[in-house]
Amino acid sequence: MRPGKASSSWLEVSVVTSPEAAEVAAALLVELVPGWAEERGDGGVRLVAWLPDDPVSRRCVEALLGRIRQVAVWGLDPGACQVRVRTIPGQPWETAWRRHFQPFRVGRFLVRPPWAHHRRGGGALVLVLNPGMAFGTGLHESTRLCLRVLPDLVRRGARVLDVGTGSGILAIAAAKLGARVLAVDCDRLACQIARANARANRVSDRVVVRCGDLFGPVRGRADVVLMNITAEVLLRAVPLVGRHLRPGGAWVVSGMVAGNAKSVLEAAAAHGLRVERLLRDGEWRAAVLRAAGGQNRAAPSG
Ligand SMILES: C[S@@+](CC[C@H](N)C(=O)[O-])C[C@H]1O[C@@H](n2cnc3c(N)ncnc32)[C@H](O)[C@@H]1O
Repeated sequence: MRPGKASSSWLEVSVVTSPEAAEVAAALLVELVPGWAEERGDGGVRLVAWLPDDPVSRRCVEALLGRIRQVAVWGLDPGACQVRVRTIPGQPWETAWRRHFQPFRVGRFLVRPPWAHHRRGGGALVLVLNPGMAFGTGLHESTRLCLRVLPDLVRRGARVLDVGTGSGILAIAAAKLGARVLAVDCDRLACQIARANARANRVSDRVVVRCGDLFGPVRGRADVVLMNITAEVLLRAVPLVGRHLRPGGAWVVSGMVAGNAKSVLEAAAAHGLRVERLLRDGEWRAAVLRAAGGQNRAAPSG
């Protein structure tokens, strides 16, 4: 659900929580709105979302409050998640959002919203992303881990597959490194957003977006396969990925947490994929897995 422009007042929903409970709170919030702003400070983590003030939004907020009370099922103290809802008369959602989403650097990339002034950022590759439309603003740890390793893996002219593209952020980043990318998502809206973002980043000639499940829309093999999804989906992909990866190709898996990364890495090892690099950011885990065989023969990117 996404706030429209017609509402004359807005509901600001903020969840104040501990860093430990923030993931659970974010998972609950994402069912209410596709994006939110996050502030981390001494007092903990504050997640904020804005919705038009109407009966549908109020029912959604009620549902959120009910689910927050049930966080004990995740083994967390419900008191750790406090929800505050306030009405903001006449304030456009966009204005509030824009205050929170500022350009930021991840490795070689500078991620910025369309309204922020263009900054050259010391040779960074700029990714223009509109937050709140689909998962993949670069704010999430699982996305950041992938962005960090991309420049080491993606060579100019390489063929890259981005399965679970969301906003298209990883596909666009790979294209900016000189790759030709096939991006896949099972969510039609995400596919539309990824295409729009590829156009906004002027890489639509190098990024093809197809809608489908896992490798369904894929023909042929890639030098690099990117998948930032969940451990469950990664486990489904393990027996299939070998058909879509060139010998010596790299598979970047992300979206795992400490508790479930091992099962994915063990399943991958059983299918001949060697762990080349393990990455972590807080609870989040990612890995670069290498297929047996020849080297990636594409020329290095500049
Ligand atoms: C965590 S988001 C990642 C978005 C982006 N790639 C990033 O790194 O920020 C996962 C995306 O995978 C998509 N997805 C989930 N299961 C899928 C499947 N079986 N096949 C294709 N896409 C899937 C979701 O719709 C969602 O857009």
